[in-house]
Amino acid sequence: MILIVGGAGYIGSHLNKEINKKGIETVIFDNLSYGHRDFVKWGTFERGDLGNIDDIRAVFKKYPIEAVMHFAAFTYVGESVEDPQKYYTNNVKNTLNLLQVMLEENVKYFVFSSTCATYGNPVEIPITENHPQNPINPYGKGKLMVETVLKDYSDAYGLKYASLRYFNAAGADPEGEVGELHNPETHLIPLILDVAAGRREDIKIFGTDYDTPDGTCIRDYIHVTDLAEAHILALEYLQNGGESDFFNLGNGNGFSVKEVIETAEEVTGKDIRAVEAERRAGDPPVLVGSSDKAKEKLNWKPKYDELSTIIETAWNWHKKLK
Ligand code: UFG
Repeated sequence: MILIVGGAGYIGSHLNKEINKKGIETVIFDNLSYGHRDFVKWGTFERGDLGNIDDIRAVFKKYPIEAVMHFAAFTYVGESVEDPQKYYTNNVKNTLNLLQVMLEENVKYFVFSSTCATYGNPVEIPITENHPQNPINPYGKGKLMVETVLKDYSDAYGLKYASLRYFNAAGADPEGEVGELHNPETHLIPLILDVAAGRREDIKIFGTDYDTPDGTCIRDYIHVTDLAEAHILALEYLQNGGESDFFNLGNGNGFSVKEVIETAEEVTGKDIRAVEAERRAGDPPVLVGSSDKAKEKLNWKPKYDELSTIIETAWNWHKKLK
């Protein structure tokens, strides 16, 4: 049985669906602070908090857990600058609680949600796993701290981990059973789709004077179902004796904010009102990753790599929201 911590959230719920499709049983552990109970449509749900180590122990005592996938982190970069304690407590300290119980229970396999934010401002594009890691905000710093802990626990205790550094997760389950729903929403694609759906008046373009072809920031959008598949492959890789390692998960293609808006207009058939605004603090102009290592070592083959497909799956789910 696989323990999915944070399985009621955006990426965890998509992974939960895909792994259940392969006949693997899951238990979902989530405190529902940001997750959604109705996103847990597969496996067994256990409500609990990583801040309370006895909640974690109880789940490990109740189920025959062989491996853990950990998605339960806070992800607002701006908030992490305003309130770093919130981020270090949940994203670092609470992860140590989880690892502590794994060691107590002798559970060896751990798939961790890391981020391209551990690289900081890129000195080279595309970003490979060997790129220097100099995170510029507490969110990225906390994730890097956990990566450091994983290396040391692996050396000392034989923990087997795969740390997956996501670029911009986007899109929704192609069958429309789960999707992206954050409160507050800060991500570009769902905000654009709110405009398309008439729930929001306009989308602000944060900065139009960057050193990029159209002046707006470029990001690497990776479909959430492709991300989910990579987690399953990473677990298989570890279970088959693969060495603990770090893997980028991105599309390898960058799209500017303006290109995303234009593609969303084509996909939805709606006019999307865009307003030029100031740069948002802390946004690197270009973030594009190389995922060659995941493709080679995990045999990962992203299926939904067209931006229009990513937006279409998001739209099919998003337009049904109230
Ligand atoms: N953007 C806008 N207007 C908006 C929202 C976003 O122009 O209303 C722009 C941003 O400035 C950025 C791009 O759209 O250039 C994408 O922004 P998102 O907020 O969707 O995503 P980020 O690239 O900021 O964040 C993602 C992940 C984080 C991760 C970060 C790494 O969501 O978890 O990449 O830098 F930490």
